[in-house]
Amino acid sequence: MEIKSTPANPLRSRKGCLVIGSHERQQGTETLSALDGAGNGELERILRRSGFRPEIGKTLHIHSSIGGASDSVLVVGCGGDGDGIGPADFRRICAAAARALKGAGVQSAAWCLSEIEVDGLDAAARTCVAIEELDIADYRYEHTLAKTRRRYSTIKRIDIHVPSGAKRGRIDEGIATGQAIAAGRTLARDLGNLPGNICTPEYLATTARDLAKRHPKVHARILDEARIERLKMNAFLAVARGSREAPRFVVLEYRGASASKAPIALIGKGITFDSGGISIKPAGAMDEMKFDMCGAASVIGTIEACARLSLPLNIVAIVPACENLPGGKAIKPGDIVTSMSGRTVEILNTDAEGRLILCDAITWAKSLEPEVIIDVATLTGACVVALGAHASGLFSNHQPLADALLRAGQDSGDRAWQMPLWPEYEKQLKSRFADVANIGGSKAGAVTAASFLSIFARQERWAHLDIAGTAWKSGKEKGATGRPVGLLCRYLIDRACQVRNQAPKARSEAAKGEKSGKRVVTTAAKRKSASSKHKAAKDA
Ligand code: BES
Ligand code: MN
Ligand code: ZN
Repeated sequence: MEIKSTPANPLRSRKGCLVIGSHERQQGTETLSALDGAGNGELERILRRSGFRPEIGKTLHIHSSIGGASDSVLVVGCGGDGDGIGPADFRRICAAAARALKGAGVQSAAWCLSEIEVDGLDAAARTCVAIEELDIADYRYEHTLAKTRRRYSTIKRIDIHVPSGAKRGRIDEGIATGQAIAAGRTLARDLGNLPGNICTPEYLATTARDLAKRHPKVHARILDEARIERLKMNAFLAVARGSREAPRFVVLEYRGASASKAPIALIGKGITFDSGGISIKPAGAMDEMKFDMCGAASVIGTIEACARLSLPLNIVAIVPACENLPGGKAIKPGDIVTSMSGRTVEILNTDAEGRLILCDAITWAKSLEPEVIIDVATLTGACVVALGAHASGLFSNHQPLADALLRAGQDSGDRAWQMPLWPEYEKQLKSRFADVANIGGSKAGAVTAASFLSIFARQERWAHLDIAGTAWKSGKEKGATGRPVGLLCRYLIDRACQVRNQAPKARSEAAKGEKSGKRVVTTAAKRKSASSKHKAAKDA
């Protein structure tokens, strides 16, 4: 999809489809009124005759030229009377327009929706949303389809019209940001959609190496089984042992700031297929467990986006990758392993494998002395029961970090909802034979899984996103969504803005303020930022 900004009058675009917004009060958008004038009221008459109500998400495709402009006109309902549209509604408007273009097989369009007033979004931000939604609608998985089924139709060209009063340069920035996020999301969707026999741990490693080759600021380190053994990641290895497929521990670094700056660690669960292991899953819909590496896909995709955005941050994606299969060497219920942290874990259910690979990844991540650790995992069916497909489950031991992620979720339309991490839940993980059990009974499954991880993230600013309900869709529309790439990119872009806005001299002071949240500085947070300077202090 080729996307360009154009300062030209949209009514002069002679080819393709003209995409314009319509409010309840039809004079609402500039281009719509202009087009109606150019066609001597023809547009108004068509709209009236068709009975079109410009509700948000509704579209009307007029397959004729009006006033000599374009081949067709797509009228997009924007609700209201032109003021008071929120960012979420605007995203729905763009998504509806993009889907309509795609559905009609339109190849070239003049996009005039950046002129719509949206609370809190300038023209650049509105353009970014448009690009993202166009890309989401245009996406099609085709890696394993016959050549004849590939690329049957695609949006080829979009001209973004610069609204009056906006600077073209800002629109171009919005396009670039949207394209970067879209590229990250697309990579995540592709990886998620690939079958388990292709997207193996080694495939994820190769993808990371390839990303590093394409971006000079990205570096990939792949740890093989022997290295993982030497590091004593026995909980991770215990899961990997049930499969012939060798595990990989993928470390993908984006270095956008000086080496002295603490990185943001993003850990992604990379189970390339989850059969459940000896505690095997029922056969129905088991194919969907190829999506159990969507956390890994999202953190790799986020690195792709950050590299394209040239963010002034250091970010490390960490992916423990393996299969969970019931082989002859597979872990059995009752087995006890010693995790990298030294804690022993009693494996009461081999299907609770995500937390086993993640606990060692969290322990490893601590050695980087990161600013924060965020893990992303398709961790529990219980989270799907709790929140469905609308929100990812968010858990954190540091409220300012949770707040920043919640806000990023809101702003990106990739929402998360915070769940509790009270000590009472952790008690469900008590074991008679080991330091901790890997399951906590039938109640509050998403919370006890998060509680398990929190034990390994003590003294860190840590958050966990359970994306079991949001990472992919089932049924007719089966496929990876690329979530939470949107949320993570928004969080990182916001963080980059804070870093940029800090005066160079005041930087270290400000960074401390930010770490402890600036908003509500709790005593625990204060203690944390004081103690985090030295690893020794941390471990004490
Ligand atoms: N990958 C699954 C979680 C999952 C299940 C995601 C269904 C989406 C849909 C995870 O490894 C798992 O199997 N979790 C178990 C944990 C249980 C054994 C405590 C679950 O949720 O059933
Ligand atoms: Mn499982
Ligand atoms: Zn799993």
